[in-house]
Amino acid sequence: MASLWGGRFEKSMDDIVKKFNASIEYDQRLYRNDIEGSIAHVTMLAEQGIVTVSEKDEIIAGLKTILKDIESGKIIFSVEDEDIHMGIESRLIAEIGDVGKKLHTARSRNDQCQVDGRMYLKEEIKEILNRLVLFEYVILEKAENYADKITVGFTHMQHAQPVTIGFHFMAYFQMFRRDIDRLLSAYERMDLCPLGACALAGTTLPTNRHTTAKLLGFTAPTENAMDSVSDRDYCLDFLSAASISMMHLSRWAEEFVWWNSQEFSYIEIDDSYCTGSSIMPQKKNPDMAELLRGKVGRVYGDLIQLLTVMKGTPLAYNKDFQEDKEGLFDAIDTWKASIEIFANMLEKTEFRMDQIEKQLDKGFLNATDVAEHFVKLNIPFREAHEIVGRMVKICEVKGCEFEDLNDDELQAIDERVTKSSLGNISIEACVNARTSFGGTAPSEVRRQIVIGRDWLDSLEINM
Ligand code: ARG
Repeated sequence: MASLWGGRFEKSMDDIVKKFNASIEYDQRLYRNDIEGSIAHVTMLAEQGIVTVSEKDEIIAGLKTILKDIESGKIIFSVEDEDIHMGIESRLIAEIGDVGKKLHTARSRNDQCQVDGRMYLKEEIKEILNRLVLFEYVILEKAENYADKITVGFTHMQHAQPVTIGFHFMAYFQMFRRDIDRLLSAYERMDLCPLGACALAGTTLPTNRHTTAKLLGFTAPTENAMDSVSDRDYCLDFLSAASISMMHLSRWAEEFVWWNSQEFSYIEIDDSYCTGSSIMPQKKNPDMAELLRGKVGRVYGDLIQLLTVMKGTPLAYNKDFQEDKEGLFDAIDTWKASIEIFANMLEKTEFRMDQIEKQLDKGFLNATDVAEHFVKLNIPFREAHEIVGRMVKICEVKGCEFEDLNDDELQAIDERVTKSSLGNISIEACVNARTSFGGTAPSEVRRQIVIGRDWLDSLEINM
């Protein structure tokens, strides 16, 4: 098949060049957007008197036939098509004859691939946002169920302070909330239509780019034609947001892996989200959590790949830019699947409170609370810290807890403290008293849940 751009060539491409040059293997994913873009383009051409109304009708009917044939599997693209834009245009000409040759008036593949890419990404962002929102609802529900269930809070992977499980969940809720915000703002920036920018400099023909932008659901046309065909930062915006969110997923996934270990035994993940071993009959492995922890690697890779492709490229279009697609598609697929799997895994996981309880009296989780009791006795915090530090030392030697120290031992450390000045330092009392704004007290966690739910309910994803 002769190429659509073959006019000035005497020889056809070498076979390995054809293969190396082609993007059709992966950009055929854009077929629907490409056809939709062409329908809008020819509609505008007719409105502007650049083609006649009957030419437009023939072209649109031809494009619709092609759409049907792609979806029914009648059209199979091959390397001969080079890319989806030429794959569709050449079939249109085969289908309706010479009138099909008018479609590519006042546009270029340089703007065409960009309008397709943006339309596709906008749709996928909506889907990802929907999944993130559902995930956030699952987190809220779990946080409600565990709003007053106490677990160990860590720093440096050492016992630090008691927190509620609901509180820990709500920390992730905030991270995914920011991920949603990032995605919304990336969407807003990419919501401009590059179609009609042509190769790089616009056209002498009397087009109306506002019409096509409107027909395709963009807020406006892009401002500068050269930027329109050179910009890939809308992909990078998405890939950055994806990388950050996948990083969040991987952190939580890591916690699932160790919560699930024999050493912790904090959780029970449903059998349907675990796998067995081909040799060790007793095994139940948290493979989903491990995959979720690992998948971030490919998304970082996708981001770094495109940043590297774009680095140092001069204006305007360069074929390097064709390398914008595979990584983007990979990141979309990976992020989408990861959110869904994580949401389901979270829903199907129960915390083993009996096991967690055994850990709560280890590591002096209430040490800071004791120091804060002393502050209430008007002991400066730095001194209170010192006193509790010395109490810890004695308890460690004696193998006991703060409550087991007697008045003599306490007074020997500091005459201002007695057994009764310790106050109620049970783990529950400590958690319930952490009512500072954003703190872990169940009452405060419930406030965070209400605010979170209000925000989620008010989100309008149908952009
Ligand atoms: N397949 C190309 C891409 O994705 C389309 C644009 C090609 N333009 C060109 N002048 N060769 O980037």
